[in-house]
Amino acid sequence: MNRYTEPKYRTILDAKENELGQLQEKSASSAWKPAYHIHPGYGLMNDPNGLAYYNGEYHVFYQWYPFGPTHGMKHWAHVKSKDLLDWDRLPTAIVPVENYESHGAYSGASIEVDGELYLYYTGNIKYSAEERSANQCLAIMDKDGVIRKYEQNPIIEGVPEGYTGHVRDPKVFMKNDTYYMLLGAQRSNLTGAIIVYESSNARDWSFKGELELELNLPDTCYMLECPDYFELNGQDVFVVSPQGLEAGKHAYQNLYNVIYVLGKMDIENLTFKVESHHELDKGFDFYAPQTFEGKNKERLLFGWAGMGEMDYPSDKEGWAHCLTIPRELDVVDGRLIQKPARELEKLRLEPAEGEFSLDQGSTGISTGSDQYELVLSLESIESEIFGLQLCSSEAERLVLEFNRTEQTVTLDRENFADAFGAEHGFERSSDLEIGDSVELQIFVDRSIVEIFINGGKTVFTARVFPHKESTGIKVFADGKMRGTHSHYRLVSNQSL
Ligand code: FRU
Repeated sequence: MNRYTEPKYRTILDAKENELGQLQEKSASSAWKPAYHIHPGYGLMNDPNGLAYYNGEYHVFYQWYPFGPTHGMKHWAHVKSKDLLDWDRLPTAIVPVENYESHGAYSGASIEVDGELYLYYTGNIKYSAEERSANQCLAIMDKDGVIRKYEQNPIIEGVPEGYTGHVRDPKVFMKNDTYYMLLGAQRSNLTGAIIVYESSNARDWSFKGELELELNLPDTCYMLECPDYFELNGQDVFVVSPQGLEAGKHAYQNLYNVIYVLGKMDIENLTFKVESHHELDKGFDFYAPQTFEGKNKERLLFGWAGMGEMDYPSDKEGWAHCLTIPRELDVVDGRLIQKPARELEKLRLEPAEGEFSLDQGSTGISTGSDQYELVLSLESIESEIFGLQLCSSEAERLVLEFNRTEQTVTLDRENFADAFGAEHGFERSSDLEIGDSVELQIFVDRSIVEIFINGGKTVFTARVFPHKESTGIKVFADGKMRGTHSHYRLVSNQSL
């Protein structure tokens, strides 16, 4: 096991005296830190990991680089909650100090085995800037919350023949008394694939083969990251984060994108028969989501509300990114629907309600708050172009615009003093069937906006970094339109 390149990267255990305290202090006063979204105290957060409702509590782990807003040596950070609302920060769950994880504890998922929570992750290994390998590893959390690395790590050493060193993000599930592990992989010909291992005890694994996924992804797709699989409403659902897809008219507009696939999984024969597939979120900042079973056996999802290879305005405050709110999934009419988890209603304070009627013009909804939920029904629409502005002031606005002629919806985040990501464009769009009404449920939390359209059939996640006074909401239409709105300030006692 000594063949790994030295030196190892730095972990929190190598921090100089006061270094972590200073990092914490630098980020602490940021006005952009969300109030009810999980976010890092300092440093960079990316993928949610190991999600579970275990032993009466929700556990969320996430990819974390402590020493700044960059993608460095990844740790697994850890927060937990009894109700999905108030989160407590716990000590770092996985610190990558071993040779088999010499360049980071990368993403993975969890499953309960014999009363303990098995946390699978990838030990990332770098030999040089271009050359890497991967080991699959296990950490185990017991009922007292004590986490230990499995003594016989790695549980899978290296990568199988025919694949490059890009093999990662284990997702383990059980079917007919056998455990299966899905891994995102890159074939030696540099195209993306999903490979499968199997095990009878969740600790000893053997390579089974490649999953035949009839997705017809183009050869430009060079990697599939963060596979997830579950059954919901009698459907098999597969979620994956492909890299290298080319942008279409209203599709794959981010550098990296996420798709869900509905169909039939036959894991024993390594096939997934695809019935349909769609992009999961049409916004700017959404990647590497994971799902898990909640307290009421519902299927919950958290996504990383961020995007790789991009600078964000909060970088200068020493922190980057957050997770989405927890979303409850359903399959309806061949589509995966995402709704805010039902628990979030408990955050609602001070409801304000109103009605409006427009004829070529706009109306404001006053909030005075930058952490709220807005439920908006647009009715009797006789306009071609209509929509709303959020986080708005004289100088700034996030614009959601519906176009009935084209049957599209577009989100534009160009108009901010701290606009960012120009290199990837300021607009994201989606096809949308627009009749004479549209339902919207919108969550704003300082620097993150999540927009659920028509009961969660179409969802946009976007980070924006407004000035403190940019809290306005304005509804506009180029013709007639009526509507009602309910507005709730949201607070949370989370100690993040
Ligand atoms: C996705 C990803 C994963 C990897 C992790 C590393 O964002 O690239 O494939 O495990 O991030 O932080």
